[in-house]
Amino acid sequence: MQRIFSGIQPTGIPHLGNYLGAIRNWVKLQDDHDCIYCAVDLHAITVAHDPKTLAQATREMVAALLASGIDPQPSIVFHQSAVTAHLRLAWIFECVVRIGWLNRMTQFKDKAGKDRENVSAGLYTYPALMAADILAYHATRVPVGDDQRQHLELANDIGQKFNFDFCGGEPFFPLIEPVILGPAARVMSLRDGAKKMSKSDPSDQSRINLTDDADTIVLKIRRAKTDPQPLPSEPAGLEGRPEARNLVGIYAALEDIDHAAVLREYGGRGFGDFKGALSALLVAKLSPIADEMRRLLADPATIDAILRDGAQRAAALADPIVQQAERLVGYLRV
Ligand code: TYM
Repeated sequence: MQRIFSGIQPTGIPHLGNYLGAIRNWVKLQDDHDCIYCAVDLHAITVAHDPKTLAQATREMVAALLASGIDPQPSIVFHQSAVTAHLRLAWIFECVVRIGWLNRMTQFKDKAGKDRENVSAGLYTYPALMAADILAYHATRVPVGDDQRQHLELANDIGQKFNFDFCGGEPFFPLIEPVILGPAARVMSLRDGAKKMSKSDPSDQSRINLTDDADTIVLKIRRAKTDPQPLPSEPAGLEGRPEARNLVGIYAALEDIDHAAVLREYGGRGFGDFKGALSALLVAKLSPIADEMRRLLADPATIDAILRDGAQRAAALADPIVQQAERLVGYLRV
């Protein structure tokens, strides 16, 4: 079976973009892959964070993964800071990656904005740590939303340069394949069809959080930006209508159908009708997850035990691979 690795930052409750772009696919892939899923708390401190809430946010993220259907046995679920192999390989990769490669990362440019001189060095080297997360396990498939594509290309460049520099071109690190699935690989903000749905958007109205209650979901969808036209009957009619495309994509992903099937049913109808159906579908799919999250969070000791076990199993896989990488770069062993 191929090995899967993916990660999510424990920065607040996951939103519908995280769920449809990533988590839901992680659940499905468990059927026919060895899966390793990680709450990436090392990545979370690359931007300002509150040390008083990080630990609880990590538990909440893990509760969200478990409530969504990630099974910590046989899959591995752990938090990144518990497995030091990530940091050891990240340092090697920071010395392999070229500044010019990091300069091309659009996510860094977006996150740093105009304040580029003043963001952390960790935010800049973030993709080297991400490459280490994956390659420390020799994982070959990485299910993510569309926004991570460039980071995965860079991870391959780093792995291949390592192979070239230290292994005479032998494939010590395998090539990784992004797994970007479904009609909602890029869920957009409910307030602006040109911006992706994001935890860092100051407006909570821009996103659906997995723990939003039914009334909140209905209200957010009712207020979601749309255009005055009725829905088209075919996907081609969504061209140039980003808000309509986004809502149709969300519906399609939740129902496991494609855009065309949604439009066969709702084409020609106004957004009033469609938004009602979409809210009902969201409530039906998300409220069991929120209930299960609450149940899990009432028993943090069980979550912590899952994480301890996951970290041990993760370390057992990553340590020998990272030790071999360390031998290849030639550290003195005494
Ligand atoms: P993060 O925490 O921002 O997001 C977690 C996952 O959710 C996906 N996602 C979306 N998908 C569709 N529409 C959206 N609006 C949307 N927003 C987020 C992301 O693509 C991601 O799959 N750098 C990563 C975490 C990471 C990682 C890794 C991922 C660290 N190491 C190794 C894979 C492998 C991140 O910040 O994801």
